[in-house]
Parts: sequence; C-alpha cells; structure tokens
Amino acid sequence: MNIKQILEKIITLLNQNNIEQATLKAKILLSNCLNISKEQLIVYDNKQVEENKLKEINSKIEQLIKGKPIQYITNKQEFMGMDFYVDENVLIPQPDTEILVENAIELLKNNYINSKNNVKVLDLCTGSGCIAISLLKLMQEQINNLKNNLCKSITVTSTDISDNALLVAKQNAKKNNIENNIKFINSNMFENIKDKFHLIVSNPPYIETQEIKFLSKEVQNEPKLALDGGIDGLKFYKIIAEESYKYLEENGYIIVEIGYNQKEDVINLFKKTKKYTNIKCKKDLANNDRIIIAKKV
Ligand SMILES: C[S@@+](CC[C@H](N)C(=O)[O-])C[C@H]1O[C@@H](n2cnc3c(N)ncnc32)[C@H](O)[C@@H]1O
Repeated sequence: MNIKQILEKIITLLNQNNIEQATLKAKILLSNCLNISKEQLIVYDNKQVEENKLKEINSKIEQLIKGKPIQYITNKQEFMGMDFYVDENVLIPQPDTEILVENAIELLKNNYINSKNNVKVLDLCTGSGCIAISLLKLMQEQINNLKNNLCKSITVTSTDISDNALLVAKQNAKKNNIENNIKFINSNMFENIKDKFHLIVSNPPYIETQEIKFLSKEVQNEPKLALDGGIDGLKFYKIIAEESYKYLEENGYIIVEIGYNQKEDVINLFKKTKKYTNIKCKKDLANNDRIIIAKKV
C-alpha cells in the first residue's frame, strides 16, 4: 500500500469509531510512524510503505480507537511554541494553560527584571514541566535581549509528588537546554520546600473526584493523580492559599490555574487568609475564567 491509501484507510477507521478530528489525528499518527512531516505525506503520497511499518501503524490505530490520546502515542505535545515529551505519567499540556505562562512573564518583566539580581520562581505540581520550562526559557531570552537590566538570572524550582512525572520534566528541561537553571524536588505540595520565591505558579489537580468518571475516554487515560482535586475540587487551592505566603518574598506573587467554575471559591480561599492583596481573575482565549493572581501583603 502507498502513503495515500494508508492515510485514507486510517481516516475511515477513525471515523467509523467516532474518533474526533479523524483526519488530523490520522495525519499525525502516520507522519509520526513514518518519521516525516504532515506536509511530506502529501508530497510522497505514492511511496510504498514497508510491511513492518504497517504492523506498527495498525497497533497505534488500535490504541487510538481504545481512547489513548494521540499525544501519548506520538510522545509529543507543543506548548508555548516548544516541543515537550509526554507519556502516561504526566498530564498533556493544555493550550488553556498558556495564559498562565503569559501572565507570569508579564508580571516578572514589570516587577522584577529591573530590580532583582536573581529572580526565583516555584512551579508547584509541575507534571511535564511545561509551565516551568517555557517560563524559564522565554524569560532567559528576555534577560539576554535587554540592555541595562539588573536581572542576571532566573532560577526555577519545579516540584511534584510523582517521581515518574519529575523524570519526564527533567527530560524536557534537557530537551529545551535549560537544565542548569532548574531544580527538581519531589514534594507533597510545600513539604520539602525550604526557599522563598518572587513568584509561585501552579496548575494543580482541580477536578471534583465524582466528575472524573464523566470525562472523555481520552482524559480518563491521563493520570488520576493529575486530575483529582478532592471532593470539591478545591483541595489543592486550600493548601496553596494557606501556605504560599510563607514561601513568597515580600510583595511576591502567586498565579494558579483554575477550572471554569472555580473563580469565586478560589478567590474566597485567598481572601480568607488575609495574607494577599490585588486578588484578580483572568480569562482564557475561550472567555472562561482561567487564572487567579494574588500578591502577598
Ligand atoms: C493538573 S497536573 C499539572 C501538570 C502541569 N503543571 C501542567 O500544567 O500541564 C497536576 C500535577 O500535580 C501533581 N500532584 C498531585 N498531587 C500532588 C501533591 N500532593 N503534591 C505535589 N504534586 C502533586 C500531579 O502528579 C500532576 O503532575
């Protein structure tokens, strides 16, 4: 069979099994198996595919039909324009989370780049490391491009309770050439954290335990540890609101990602402690409430 025939076969199979975005997923899967770009699938559509490749393709189609996310099959996801390795040990980085990184960069640029020698950031619940690594890489570019800024370096501490997630995050730090300025710590929330930071960022698990079984088959293939936010989905925000200020420098900031319906609850958790000011919510591109930003009093 040639590339064109195989591509058509995959699209038909995925459509028959009600897989969303069948054409796109078929192209991603086939280009990944053949190690060529999606565009090259068209250019070389007459090329014959070897028998052993066909076996691999069939096995990956089966996995996709069973509900395995395409990103776990190709071990790839793009985030903030960078490539990340992903597997079943980590949440697949979501485009919605980019708003957190964009706001973190703006905040660091406006508040610290001209006033601090070394800026310290903590990423709690780092998973694949997508927040920590993209933030660090983009801030390093800023620092190198700015003349006369005081800031000489930025260091990030990334934590997770899962050793397997931390291994993935370390791999991603290496892949993006920033392993010298990032430290990884296995920690149940703040348990093993000793330092203080100018900024804490976190995308903690925030799905209500009871809701997980209603999520799509694909999302249910992601680690429960990365999804389960306890009975009310707020378990980790309670810890973050109660503990963060102890790990923030004076006037330090915290930014957390939230679920679309958690704005009031999370703002109230921060307000209740009386340790934060300027508490505000920002929306994502789909106009859903997505992040809460607060400043240590
Ligand atoms: C929603 S995922 C976020 C991953 C990544 N930051 C992102 O935005 O794609 C939450 C992460 O929290 C970690 N986690 C769960 N419970 C934790 C705990 N008690 N302490 C620290 N990390 C925890 C999970 O292993 C998972 O990697």
